[in-house]
Amino acid sequence: MKIGVISDTHDNLDAIRRAVSYFAKNTEIIIHAGDVIAPFSAKIFREANIPVYGVLGNNDGELLTIEIFNKLGGKVKRQFNTLTMDNRRIAVMHGEMAEVIEALIRSKMYDIVISGHTHDTRIEKKDGVLHVNPGENCGYLTGKSTIAIIDTATLTAEIIEV
Ligand code: NI
Repeated sequence: MKIGVISDTHDNLDAIRRAVSYFAKNTEIIIHAGDVIAPFSAKIFREANIPVYGVLGNNDGELLTIEIFNKLGGKVKRQFNTLTMDNRRIAVMHGEMAEVIEALIRSKMYDIVISGHTHDTRIEKKDGVLHVNPGENCGYLTGKSTIAIIDTATLTAEIIEV
């Protein structure tokens, strides 16, 4: 199963549309790791018409964002979320505290740990645990609009520039 991962969309509507159209063609679910910002950014995900899971970020104040996402059939929560897809246990957090991400990875309670917030991409495997940070979809800090695709069958991920 292919999972689309996105974070730090920060209201860049064009970048969100490019990501959502990629997800619509290539993935079965979407995980958003937070910093969506305005609810109108969440509405764009309706165009993919696939379930969205994930969390809000430190810059997300509008709980309406959660309602918009949850109508798509997944589950978005405020700070921490877990789900199981294709027998892979997945933890999602925005990631303000690097120590907590590290602890989650080391706990081995999850096969996949997803975080965002740093706006830098990261794909690493530690003791069989896959950690994925898709970087920034908005492209504001790095000039690159990125997302990640996870393949649950092989427990691998790749970064895609959109
Ligand atoms: Ni953030």
